[in-house]
Amino acid sequence: MTPSALPGQPHLAYRDHELCLEQVRLADLALTHGTPLFVYSKAAMLAALAAYQRGFQGRKALICYAMKANSNLAVLQLFAQAGCGFDIVSGGELQRVLAAGGDVKKVIFSGVGKTRAEMRQALAAGIACFNVESEAELEVLNQVALDLGVRAPVSIRVNPNVDPQTHPYISTGLKGSKFGVAHERTVATYQRAAALQGLHVVGIDCHIGSQITQELPYLDAVDRMLDLVQDIEAAGIPLQHLDFGGGLGIDYNGDTPPAADALWRLLLAKLDARGFGQRQLMIEPGRSLVGNAGVCLTQVLYLKPGETKNFCIVDAAMNDLPRPAMYQAFHQIVPLAQKPAPEPATSWEVVGPVCESGDWIGHDRALALQPGDLLAVLSAGAYCMSMASNYNTRGRAAEVLVDQGRCCVIRERESAQDCFALEHLPDPA
Ligand code: LLP
Repeated sequence: MTPSALPGQPHLAYRDHELCLEQVRLADLALTHGTPLFVYSKAAMLAALAAYQRGFQGRKALICYAMKANSNLAVLQLFAQAGCGFDIVSGGELQRVLAAGGDVKKVIFSGVGKTRAEMRQALAAGIACFNVESEAELEVLNQVALDLGVRAPVSIRVNPNVDPQTHPYISTGLKGSKFGVAHERTVATYQRAAALQGLHVVGIDCHIGSQITQELPYLDAVDRMLDLVQDIEAAGIPLQHLDFGGGLGIDYNGDTPPAADALWRLLLAKLDARGFGQRQLMIEPGRSLVGNAGVCLTQVLYLKPGETKNFCIVDAAMNDLPRPAMYQAFHQIVPLAQKPAPEPATSWEVVGPVCESGDWIGHDRALALQPGDLLAVLSAGAYCMSMASNYNTRGRAAEVLVDQGRCCVIRERESAQDCFALEHLPDPA
């Protein structure tokens, strides 16, 4: 029987009515490793990366994977081996890059609240660039670098005041957001940076938001940033690299973001037209590299039909999949086994066991269900496991990487003991 692929999910297909990632039957993984379980396809991640690489063919470009999207060491290793750098936002993420064998000279450090200790750690490691987010941070970084007797490579994150037309919590490039330096303050901030002995100005960056599904906000942001580059360089401060951040959306539910290569062909045409096409370029994609490469498998515990709503209680919860509760995000939910003669589907509220009404995974889903059925929550490769918590003393799920039929557990399931391993009872008085 020919496999039937799922829309927007080229690496997932039903083969003989069983949902497979690459060639692997997901139900087998659920039975072997238990649920909830995250499963990722290496081929899907590399295919997503290849779209960017095609877009940048013949250009000087470094793809710095925004590892906050999914920071499992095995995921970092595969991107490092494919030539990527990393966009980090903490000293902890830097340690992950080192543990995964990433090249520290391809690491850029973003974030509005870098501590002095993190700055020291990153300077000692020799990262490529600090993406500085405020004038106050610039002064502290200068001090830290002078104390260490080094010069810190810096780029200033500019806030282009462009609306990315996405969820307000993941919109970052508008006035009034905590991120970046205001457009009007940018040249003055660069002049200050250039005057500080502990700093070496190397670039400029911006990042306007996440899950962006349209081209226009990017085109506007590029224009606004290039205007600034001209002003900064006219003030005698040369910039070696231009970093356009991340943010490209994925298809969660019929969304139609541009493909990475198509988007970059468009943006590069603009850069060429304005004479910047041969500069060193950087980008910081996260979600678009991993989001649709992963699923979260979960089992139906109980069905609880009711007068106004039917609840389907599954063993994954908001601690595993925080995006619905946090951003009202939509993730497709599909059965691992297509039933031969479809039973009439009922509309279900798919919810987890956590003691919060906000613990939901999908509203109003038409599914034919029995207790014990296995389901897959799709598009779970980005910002799920990396945002998971131990709320309700639920150990975090295990993770498996599929690579052409080989399956490798890349993170063990946490036990209850793991959840409280760092806690102590006070000594008796
Ligand atoms: N660069 C910077 C400076 C960022 O702040 C981010 C994401 C990225 C790059 C990567 O953006 P991406 O390509 O993944 O859109 N937890 C939210 C998303 C938060 C994004 C935070 N910053 C969610 O689940 O939708």
